[in-house]
Amino acid sequence: MEFSVKSGSPVKQRSACVVVGVFEPRRLSPAAESLDEASGGHLSALLRRGDIEGHIGQTLLLHHVPKVLAERVLLVGCGKEREVGDKEYQRIVSAAVTHLNDTGSMECADYLTEISVKGRDLHWKVRNTVEVTRGALHRTDQLKSQKDDLRRPLRKLTLMVPKRSDLPNGEAAVREGEAIAEGVMLAKSLGDLPGNICTPTYLAKQARAMAKKYTPLKVSVLEKAQMEKLGMGALLSVSAGSSEAPKFIIAEYKGGKTKEKPIVLVGKGITFDTGGISIKPSATMDEMKYDMCGAASVLGTLTACAELQLKCNVIGLVPSCDNMPSGEATKPGDIVTSMSGQTIEVLNTDAEGRLILCDALTYSERFDPDVVVDIATLTGACIVALGHHASAVMGNHPPLVHELLNAGKTSGDRAWELPLWNEYDEQLKSNFADIPNIGSGRDAGSITAGCFLARFTKKYHWAHLDIAGTAWVSGAKKGATGRPVPLLTQFLIDRCKTKSTSKK
Ligand code: BES
Ligand code: MN
Ligand code: ZN
Repeated sequence: MEFSVKSGSPVKQRSACVVVGVFEPRRLSPAAESLDEASGGHLSALLRRGDIEGHIGQTLLLHHVPKVLAERVLLVGCGKEREVGDKEYQRIVSAAVTHLNDTGSMECADYLTEISVKGRDLHWKVRNTVEVTRGALHRTDQLKSQKDDLRRPLRKLTLMVPKRSDLPNGEAAVREGEAIAEGVMLAKSLGDLPGNICTPTYLAKQARAMAKKYTPLKVSVLEKAQMEKLGMGALLSVSAGSSEAPKFIIAEYKGGKTKEKPIVLVGKGITFDTGGISIKPSATMDEMKYDMCGAASVLGTLTACAELQLKCNVIGLVPSCDNMPSGEATKPGDIVTSMSGQTIEVLNTDAEGRLILCDALTYSERFDPDVVVDIATLTGACIVALGHHASAVMGNHPPLVHELLNAGKTSGDRAWELPLWNEYDEQLKSNFADIPNIGSGRDAGSITAGCFLARFTKKYHWAHLDIAGTAWVSGAKKGATGRPVPLLTQFLIDRCKTKSTSKK
């Protein structure tokens, strides 16, 4: 899929299709208006006849509109003009590109960028169009033997901007959109792969392939013996029940000055979570293949970062293994020693994410990080608290939490803060070890998980994103979402900006 930016009149575009909006009730957008004028009222006649009302997502494809150079005109319903927000705009764009893809226009000139979206500018609309288009055309048939190949898929989308002076801004927005879409696609494809294919070894191979493609990226992988030497007893206790080899992926992106402290991203990479001896019920257990979506988002964000050639240093850490029951598996009550030296009583083997994360968080110290952000499908309780709309964010440094919340707002990949108060930390008491791996009682499960991680992050500024509700959707449209790659990439983009402006 190719994107470009252009300015000019809709009447004069020699394109397979010109895409314009229609508002409710039956009102033409400015670009549609000019097509109407040129064609002697062709469009307004159709509206009067009631062919399209302008409801959001409605489409009407016209051929041979008089005096218009394009082969087709696609009218797209945009709903009420003053009520277009982020989600509405995404539905409009998605309806348009899906329709074009299915009806033989291989390229188009898109004037939907002229629609005003509440609180958003041209840059956002262009970038979002690229992201939504790539998302809408994404197929999940990587493992189907018959692919539904389209005869004439949409290949080229030209985003129209009002003035020539808008071109540089539009082009920058396209580049950001493409980079984010690339990262999201990677995260989605890895997430959707089943546990028998996407193993820790497979993830490590993917990371190595990324390092081949992008020169500023270096990847190394720690094997089980090295983890033993480092004393990663918590991580290894999760891996104990599985015959898949655990891997600890270290991906270093060096886009900034050598001495500049890195941003460390840590992603939970459980390639399948059965729960271990504290085994999960079988209904929807297949979805626990998604328990590596934190890891996938780290690799996706590094991809976006490399595509944008961001001038900052970012390190991705991915502790990865399976959580399986077996004769060698860790048992409830077992006490293990983490890399930090703290002993942990494993009261529930299904609270495994925090066990692999805590060793990765301790390992992060060696990079002398500016900040550390971990990303994990950590708790079912997070879905109870926030549903599927927002990721949870917690942390020990309010400015960092704010940066992440803001990046969520800007990118539309939203997060919401949960508190890490002492009262919650007090739920973490073990009679036999320094800390239990679950809180007493079921209350505030996402927060007690955050408090557990906080015990291992005292030496640096840290935040935790719980993406249990946002990383994938269940049901008929089951699939990974690629979240929070947009949030994390925005966070890095914003950090690069503030850095270069503050040094002026
Ligand atoms: N990977 C799960 C969390 C999860 C469950 C995410 C369902 C999305 C949907 C995690 O490893 C887990 O099992 N957490 C337990 C923790 C509990 C034992 C304290 C949970 O949430 O039930
Ligand atoms: Mn679990
Ligand atoms: Zn898990």
